[in-house]
Amino acid sequence: MKRSTLELLCCPGCHSTLSLQTGHGDGPIGEGRLLCSGCERSYPIRNGIPHFMDPKDLEGPNRRFARGYDWFSRLYPLFTKIGFLGFGGERKARKEVLDRLELGGGRVLEVSIGTGANLPYLFETGCVGEVYGLDISAGQLARCGSLITKRGWPVDLFLGTAEALPFKTETFDSVLHIGGINFFSGKKQAIDEMIRVARPGAKIVIADESEQIARNLYRLSRLFRPRHREEMDLAIPVHLVPETMENIRVGGIWKAHGEDHGYCLEFRKPVSPSAA
Ligand SMILES: C[S@@+](CC[C@H](N)C(=O)[O-])C[C@H]1O[C@@H](n2cnc3c(N)ncnc32)[C@H](O)[C@@H]1O
Repeated sequence: MKRSTLELLCCPGCHSTLSLQTGHGDGPIGEGRLLCSGCERSYPIRNGIPHFMDPKDLEGPNRRFARGYDWFSRLYPLFTKIGFLGFGGERKARKEVLDRLELGGGRVLEVSIGTGANLPYLFETGCVGEVYGLDISAGQLARCGSLITKRGWPVDLFLGTAEALPFKTETFDSVLHIGGINFFSGKKQAIDEMIRVARPGAKIVIADESEQIARNLYRLSRLFRPRHREEMDLAIPVHLVPETMENIRVGGIWKAHGEDHGYCLEFRKPVSPSAA
């Protein structure tokens, strides 16, 4: 993790400032510990990745998905490549979402970055400054880390949950999420958090599979099967976006045989602080 990234971080629990306990020096931070000045929780940094949650503390779908994706991370890049074949291939399918971001060389946050499958398309635009990626699965982040090292991209990674982001308010110029929110433990908290960390005027883009596809996944795997009533809600989460957001738009994506297999929800955080 870049040393300058410390400036962007806060405690995901209480939003107080964090101080680095070990690993002083000038270069990137490989190992260390971040201590919260408010609740005094401490978060380890391992292999350059701050760990803002302990998998043992996760509950509900988040617990299942963290474990599931740890196991699945080796196959995930091939799985998405094959999965997107029906929609014109991975490049077309991913660009259908990424082209809605307004990239102007600033900081981009990808919530649930997975193995980093969107990174090649983000960097090829030439309009991305730094990328910050968070995911609940250490396995997915390890794969993503290898890709970043190989390509030399300016990306920092964080282990944490979308429902409690470890970033200061109004930090990012663009916020992106693809492919996880349908099954998050707390969809509303995740959307509120994406809004909190976005700068006024920033575009927030959220995409996932359609309700029908999500229901098919229930049938396909125990991992996706709902255990509680609230997990049954697979409607496009546009009703969870505060009315104060601007240009709220939702549309179908990933079309095949005349049917949309995904949705993209996009909106802008208002510039006026009173409106946000
Ligand atoms: C289908 S993958 C999408 C990965 C990547 N965004 C992409 O487009 O390929 C879903 C990702 O969401 C992550 N995830 C699931 N629940 C999460 C949560 N509550 N907070 C953060 N990430 C989560 C998983 O670990 C997984 O990497």
